[in-house]
Amino acid sequence: MEQLVYLNGEIVPYSEARIPVEDRGFLFGDGIYEVVRIYHGRPFAFDRHFERLRRSAAEIRLDLDIERLRADALDLIVRQGIEEATLYLQATRGVAIRNHAFPSEPVASVMMLVRSASAPSAAVLQNGVRCITLPDDRWARCSIKSINLLPNVLAKQQAVEAGCYEAIYLRDGYMTEGSSSNSWAVLDGELWTAPKSNYILGGITRDVLLELARQDGLPIREEPVPGWRLAAADEILISSTTSEVLPVVELDGRPVGAGRPGPVWERLYHLLQRAITVECRPELIEAR
Ligand SMILES: Cc1ncc(COP(=O)(O)O)c(C=O)c1O
Repeated sequence: MEQLVYLNGEIVPYSEARIPVEDRGFLFGDGIYEVVRIYHGRPFAFDRHFERLRRSAAEIRLDLDIERLRADALDLIVRQGIEEATLYLQATRGVAIRNHAFPSEPVASVMMLVRSASAPSAAVLQNGVRCITLPDDRWARCSIKSINLLPNVLAKQQAVEAGCYEAIYLRDGYMTEGSSSNSWAVLDGELWTAPKSNYILGGITRDVLLELARQDGLPIREEPVPGWRLAAADEILISSTTSEVLPVVELDGRPVGAGRPGPVWERLYHLLQRAITVECRPELIEAR
């Protein structure tokens, strides 16, 4: 199937998709984005993603027709026809001669792409991932899903060069989140994750996991996690749309808990898989 691109209301072949060089996303990183996971051809947590897009747009004062984009995204998902995929949506403040101030009549530029994706491998689920911690040197408006990702890119690269999967940020001695994920710790049997604030992105997977964990009766602490407690954590987890929820088995070269995926991770993983099945493959549930 040919790779398609949605660009400002039209779906065109990839080779024909053109963005002007003076797009403010390109010049200033003046834009926002979303990533939605598609399972079995159906988007997961679609409404939540578009609500977050609405919030991000409001934060950067970008005028977007969210309802129209929602419908266009569903159309692209069907047209591209990839069963296991991600939808990437990026909206920028459009094209204008370079000037930091907003153009007098900005017209947003929106691009969407559906690409194949796969779930975390069996090896990753069985063995977990390694992470490093890094000082959180990002700006103070991390709740905006901004396309300005240079600090995150540098942090992720540092993790990769250390043979790790992810960098987990510490700000003023407290764990905030990963460079492209939210982070969690199990401390004395309670599941901790940083509260929503301007210092973390309110992850959709985080929201879904919190709901599932609460329904399941897991004790939750949405509170700042002191970095010094990570060394004694029973488990550490990371979550995101593309990685779902992963067990961290080593942090800064030291084993986390028993050094293998733990029971809280396993429970959350299964709860999430079930939620995905209920939403994206309900026929499997009904058939049981
Ligand atoms: C900085 C950051 N935090 C958290 C997340 C997780 O968010 P979500 O679960 O919505 O994918 C991401 C995802 O890309 C991210 O970039």
